[in-house]
Amino acid sequence: MFKKFFLTAIFVFSTIFIQAKIIDAEIEKKVNTLLQKMTLEEKIGQLNQYSSTWELTGPTPEDETNQNRLDDIKSGRVGSMLNVVSAKETRAAQKLAVENSRLGIPLIFGLDVIHGFRTIFPVPLGQAASWDMEVIKQGARIAATEAAAAGIHWTFAPMVDISRDPRWGRIMEGAGEDPYLGSQIAKALVQGYQGKSLSSDNTIVACAKHYAAYGGAIAGRDYNSVDLSMYDLYNIYLPPYKACIDAEAGTFMNSFNTLNGIPATGNQFLVNNILRDKWQFSGLLLSDWNSIGELIPHGLAKNLKEAARIALQGSTDMDMESSAYINHLAELVKTGTIQEEQIDNAVKRVLTLKYKLGLFDDPYKYCSTERERSQIYSHENQSFALEMARESIVLLKNNNILPLSKEIGSIAVVGPLAADKDNPLGSWRCQGEENTAVSLLSGIRKAVSSKTKIHYAKGCDLLTDEQEYQFHNQISINKDNYQGISKAVKIAEKADVVIAAVGETALMSGEARSRMNIDLPGVQNKLMEELTKIGKPIIVVLFNGRPLAIPEIDKNAAAVVESWLAGSQSGNAIAEVLFGDHNPGGKLPVTFPRHVGQIPIYYNHLNTGRPVMENSDIFVSGYTDGPSTPLYPFGYGLSYTTFEYSNLKLSNKKLGMDKSLTVSVDLTNTGERKGKETVQLYIRDMVGTYSRPIKELKGFKKVALKPGQTKTVQFEINKDKLSYYNAQYEQIYEPGEFEIMVGGNSVDLLTTKFELLE
Ligand code: NOJ
Repeated sequence: MFKKFFLTAIFVFSTIFIQAKIIDAEIEKKVNTLLQKMTLEEKIGQLNQYSSTWELTGPTPEDETNQNRLDDIKSGRVGSMLNVVSAKETRAAQKLAVENSRLGIPLIFGLDVIHGFRTIFPVPLGQAASWDMEVIKQGARIAATEAAAAGIHWTFAPMVDISRDPRWGRIMEGAGEDPYLGSQIAKALVQGYQGKSLSSDNTIVACAKHYAAYGGAIAGRDYNSVDLSMYDLYNIYLPPYKACIDAEAGTFMNSFNTLNGIPATGNQFLVNNILRDKWQFSGLLLSDWNSIGELIPHGLAKNLKEAARIALQGSTDMDMESSAYINHLAELVKTGTIQEEQIDNAVKRVLTLKYKLGLFDDPYKYCSTERERSQIYSHENQSFALEMARESIVLLKNNNILPLSKEIGSIAVVGPLAADKDNPLGSWRCQGEENTAVSLLSGIRKAVSSKTKIHYAKGCDLLTDEQEYQFHNQISINKDNYQGISKAVKIAEKADVVIAAVGETALMSGEARSRMNIDLPGVQNKLMEELTKIGKPIIVVLFNGRPLAIPEIDKNAAAVVESWLAGSQSGNAIAEVLFGDHNPGGKLPVTFPRHVGQIPIYYNHLNTGRPVMENSDIFVSGYTDGPSTPLYPFGYGLSYTTFEYSNLKLSNKKLGMDKSLTVSVDLTNTGERKGKETVQLYIRDMVGTYSRPIKELKGFKKVALKPGQTKTVQFEINKDKLSYYNAQYEQIYEPGEFEIMVGGNSVDLLTTKFELLE
């Protein structure tokens, strides 16, 4: 029986494999035939990507640049457009290319579909807190379906940059600090966007970005240089990009930063040696926005012509918005500086993608107003946004006050984010429409009984005038924050509990939104201070795209709920948590520091020769003016029930190099509610050629348990889970003792040991 199943499976897989090879060969043939018909100019046109800044279906703008761009599309000088959205607009642009250019090569339309298209899901860091790969994958699937219905073929996602610095605004766009979790999420997102086949009409090609190590920006300043040891590059920063390769992401994007002195765009080592040679990536590599042009301020190129040469030789196939390729590649070929063959290779990758997407069969197959009407922002998509938002919420503190009873007498809902319908949509909200998120206030109103009195006061603005200017380039006037605070205090005095919605604006995280202080902006601390004085229990709901350093909030609040920026259904999901319709199970994908001075702070650090230990003296690797431990550690998150871990066992205390062993642990729901727990497996290599991290996540399982129920959770361990990369990027397996740790966060863990044999 088993044998029959096994043989059938082999047959099915080999048939699929052979079919894929046949299709690839057919595409290759078509690409070569087309390439032969193309002039050098037309080839270079395929490597040029412009952004649209105007409506193609409206009147043509007078502006000369825009007029030239339209002409460029018609004459085959553009291979791709970004930011052309909607079936109508993409159809209009496609028509220009297909009907006017000599060879009628269709355009490919790209867009930053980061956490939803019009239905907005939690920001990626929030999604990561769900530790639920199926949910994350499904979110990407829905985003792809909505985007494809609006004419989009290509998303500039996932962003898989690891970051250990919450000052960096783009930490919001990634999966946090961990290479293992980050890799699993990268894979889920690529699979979600690309679906089973790029030739379907509801799949879009993914773009793994930003290659590479963009999240290592020194001091958390966006676009800043990155200086990394090769050890960290290979073990911490590269794995999620490699996971995108394994998941067959169709495209990659360069990053803006330098890596150890050389800009990532045009970086021979990163691209030619690793991405192309070692990882065998044959897909399209896109520059980031003008990252080719930025080779000039980086001091790598004297002018745009030189920048074009460096980028092409560094295997960047398509130029986003710098016009370096369209203006200079032809001349570089004519003077013999670069070979036409190098251009051909890049063009082949662009054309291959267009064939794979089926654009040569039907250039308009994505532009359907009918699908746009029925599939975008549908009721089902909203329900899924609610599900994902619920799963992403992390309960950070609970002095037994949550969940609240729906029959509670009165609640004061205060804070600048309480009635806010816009900020929860987050940065990179794609086509999410302004003010369309469910506010917390509205979620609470829907959740409670008719007897409960809700008092609302905004309390204060989110930002001071000065911050408003820094983050949003605008100044609001007539702010009267202090009077607002006294109003909030007044209503809080009358209520049984206070729910305070505080945090950041959507645009305080995201691109170019780095912060020096990562506490609550504006006068929100003052608001919290005044509320605390009343002595009523305060439940703080945080809205933020990065870890915040909020020790005072942690100290004074009765409960703290991390909602991130949870998207379209934000208020409903938070209310479900506050009133117990949903038992929160999210876990932090990133460490929350106590103070900005602790940054970079991350759980998988090396031990140092002088680790801080209980009762250690002053000559240790700590701080003299505060603890070096985080406020909330990686992997942390509470529940309304309690879980007990017991019986940590290994199937064997010795592991042969080519064998595997099983780790098992019993997990019991010891509380009174059903709930989900993410069981986390950490490993430490006790002695190695390199100093190894004190623990590294190597597995996790999200388990649902009823009250009183026990489940045995198992993990397989083989030599790959125990290996690491040396500075030459060789995977090494070192025999010796390993510690196994299992628990519900990166600190509270059961431990045992085993030995890996030669
Ligand atoms: C610059 C950003 O770094 C990148 O992530 C994005 O995809 C492009 N702009 C296009 O919007």
